[in-house]
Amino acid sequence: MKAAVTRAYGPPSVIELVDVPEPELLADDLLVRVTASPVTAGDSRMRALNVPRGFGLILRLILGWRRPRRAVMGMEFAGVVEAAGPGFAVGQRVFGITGLKGGCHAEKLAIAASGRVRAIPEGLSDAEAAGFFFGGLTALDFLTRQAGLEAGQRLLINGATGAVGSAAVQIGRHLGAEVTALCGPANVALALELGAHHAQGYDAPLPAGPFDVTMDCAGTLPYARAMPHLAAGGQLLVVVVASLAQQLGHSLRPRRNGHRLHVQTAVDSGPAMDRLIKLYRAGGYRPLVGAEFAFAEIRAAHALADTRHKRGAVVVKM
Ligand SMILES: NC(=O)c1ccc[n+]([C@@H]2O[C@H](COP(=O)([O-])OP(=O)(O)OC[C@H]3O[C@@H](n4cnc5c(N)ncnc54)[C@H](OP(=O)(O)O)[C@@H]3O)[C@@H](O)[C@H]2O)c1
Repeated sequence: MKAAVTRAYGPPSVIELVDVPEPELLADDLLVRVTASPVTAGDSRMRALNVPRGFGLILRLILGWRRPRRAVMGMEFAGVVEAAGPGFAVGQRVFGITGLKGGCHAEKLAIAASGRVRAIPEGLSDAEAAGFFFGGLTALDFLTRQAGLEAGQRLLINGATGAVGSAAVQIGRHLGAEVTALCGPANVALALELGAHHAQGYDAPLPAGPFDVTMDCAGTLPYARAMPHLAAGGQLLVVVVASLAQQLGHSLRPRRNGHRLHVQTAVDSGPAMDRLIKLYRAGGYRPLVGAEFAFAEIRAAHALADTRHKRGAVVVKM
C-alpha cells in the first residue's frame, strides 16, 4: 500500500509517498481502507517542529529526537472497514482518531475496534467525515467543558473560519450564544454563513464588546489585548499559546482581574467523539472542508496547512 512517509522534520518536501507493508492486525483490530484524512494544524506543526517557544524539546521527546519515530503521520481518518472486528462489519463506513500513533496518511490502517473509531453518521461525505473531529472536538471542549458557555452569553471568536474557529462559530450559535467572528476580510461572508451574528475582518479595531467568552484560535489575542473587551467575570479561551512560559503562567494563575483563562489541551476521547456526533445529529455542527487534495498531492495540502490561513479542514483523498 502507499503511505506518506516523513523521515525528517522540515518543509512539506520531506514527505514522500512510498510503498510500505500493510499494517499487522492484533486480535481486536479492524483493518480500514482509508478514503480521506485531514492535514491539520497539528500535522503541520509536528512535521515542521513548528511549535511555540519551549515546546520543541518536549515534542522531540514525544515524537522522536532527530526524526519522527512513527514515519507515517496523520492522526484522523475516514474509511471503510476491510477486515471486521467486534461491533463492525466489512464495508461499513467509519471514522476516527489514532492520535500521536499516526498512520492515517496511508491507504490502510489498523485500529482497535474498542478504540476511537465510530460509524460515520448519515449525510457526511468522506471528506467531511475526515475533517469532523479535529476542529469540532477542540471547539466543543473549550466552549462547553472549559468555559461552560451558556445561552445568551456574548462570544467572540478570533480565527473564526479555520478548523477550530468554524466549528466554534456553529457550536456557539447552537448553544444560544451571541457570536461575533473575527477573521480575514475575505472570510467575513463565510463566518456569517456559518452562523455568526456579527463578523468583521481582523484588520479593523477589535469590537468593543464586552464579551463573556473570548476564544483565541489564532494566537493574536493574548490576555493583555483581550482584557479591555472582556465582561466582568469573562473568560478567555487560549487555544493557541505563545510559549511554554506563557502556558505555565496561565496554568498557575488562571484568574486575573476577575477574569478566568483556560489553556487545557482539548479532550479527544471516545465519549467526546460521541458528544460531537450527537451534536451533528442535532444540527449543531457540520465540519467545513475548505480544500481537498488527491493523496499524491499531500505536500500541497501540508503547504496550505502551513499558511495558517486555511478555511476549515484541508483533506487528502486516497
Ligand atoms: N489547545 C488545543 O487543544 C488545540 C487543539 C487544536 C488546535 N490547536 C491550535 O489551534 C490553532 C488553530 O487551529 P486550526 O486548525 O483552526 O488552524 P487553521 O485552520 O490554520 O486556522 C487558523 C485561523 O487563524 C486565522 N488567522 C491567521 N492570522 C490571523 C490574525 N492575524 N488574526 C486573526 N486570525 C488570524 C486564520 O484566518 P484567515 O484565514 O481568515 O486569515 C484562520 O482562520 C492552531 O495553532 C492549532 O495548533 C490547539
